[in-house]
Amino acid sequence: MYLSKLKLENFRNYENQELNLINGINLFLGDNAQGKTNIIEAIYICAFGKSYRTLKDNELIMFGKEYCRINLDYIKNDNNFNTSFFIDILNRKQIKNNEIKIKKIADYVGEIPIVIFSPESLDVVKGAPSKRRNFIDMICCQLSKSYIIYHQEYMKCLKIKNSILKNDYIDENYIEVLHEKMSKYIKNIVEYRKKIVELLNKYSKTIQKKLTDEKEEIEILYNTDFLNMDEQEIKKYLDEHLYIDKLRKSSIKGIQRDDLEIYINQKEVSKFGSQGQKRTALLTLKLANFELLKELKEETPILLLDDIMSELDSKRINFLLRYIENYQSIITTTEDTFVKDISNIKIYKVSNGRLEN
Ligand SMILES: Nc1ncnc2c1ncn2[C@@H]1O[C@H](COP(=O)(O)OP(=O)(O)OP(=O)(O)O)[C@@H](O)[C@H]1O
Ligand SMILES: [Mg+2]
Repeated sequence: MYLSKLKLENFRNYENQELNLINGINLFLGDNAQGKTNIIEAIYICAFGKSYRTLKDNELIMFGKEYCRINLDYIKNDNNFNTSFFIDILNRKQIKNNEIKIKKIADYVGEIPIVIFSPESLDVVKGAPSKRRNFIDMICCQLSKSYIIYHQEYMKCLKIKNSILKNDYIDENYIEVLHEKMSKYIKNIVEYRKKIVELLNKYSKTIQKKLTDEKEEIEILYNTDFLNMDEQEIKKYLDEHLYIDKLRKSSIKGIQRDDLEIYINQKEVSKFGSQGQKRTALLTLKLANFELLKELKEETPILLLDDIMSELDSKRINFLLRYIENYQSIITTTEDTFVKDISNIKIYKVSNGRLEN
């Protein structure tokens, strides 16, 4: 699949912009604060129904305007499709796919598979565990509607449980009922995360070796309390830890504590890796993410690469460009010095919310 046209109306610093995308490298070139990341954000919103930069949808509306609209056309197996996103200042939001209103986001996410890579992505390697959970959840959500639902339901239960734990009187029977529900969700989520980590390992190993001339071996470990437990065992485990939950007034066990450990040559990269090794590991993870989605969805994901060329050395840039030249990517950059001998590329100059090519 590939994206063919993007239309922005009152979106961030774009008042009215239409652009045709090529099924290749789409390079957005411009100085700082001109609107390059806004393009990446608009595409991301069409894929996930929300931004990754803000939780407040109406911040997306151009200052002084009443609403914003994004329209994205895409082509799958030679057929045309369309997605649109609308939000107004009263927070009335509407997402449509082929003119049909999307009621539940779980019904829609995964329609446009995306891999996003920005300087902040480095947090996957060196940041807090939540960043690694987001990384894995973003893959799982694009692959499985039931994963999204289990995850949403689990988070609802967790929120209720945490609010009960803050009370002076704690209704333990109610918490046990919640534990029963949560056990089912945990089992399914853990099984899915485990499967995805296995696949990420498979692809990462090959990519990392190619990237490092066979010098480095990468390994990703999935760290959870619930591996291979059945629902009863999970429930028992949650019940047994309730006394600590009560002391801490918060849930200490659950999939909200899961993490990934990333090793290079048997050493944990977040603790012992050099800056370069962390960047290489991340590049490997993102390309493995791409391969995994491509295999399981049986279509090519869109690569959104926001300002990452400045983060990589020329060897890794070349590796990346060779890797992606046959797929569709949206790349933003302030410098285009790395663009040499690449065919299938279109350059758009970005200046103060206007594009020219
Ligand atoms: N709601 C909004 N209305 C109007 N302009 C906005 C809105 N939100 C953000 N902007 C403007 O958009 C511009 C930033 O766009 P963007 O983040 O895409 O820049 P960029 O080209 O990626 O810059 P950099 O190279 O620094 O990353 C800023 O000038 C900001 O003021
Ligand atoms: Mg930017």
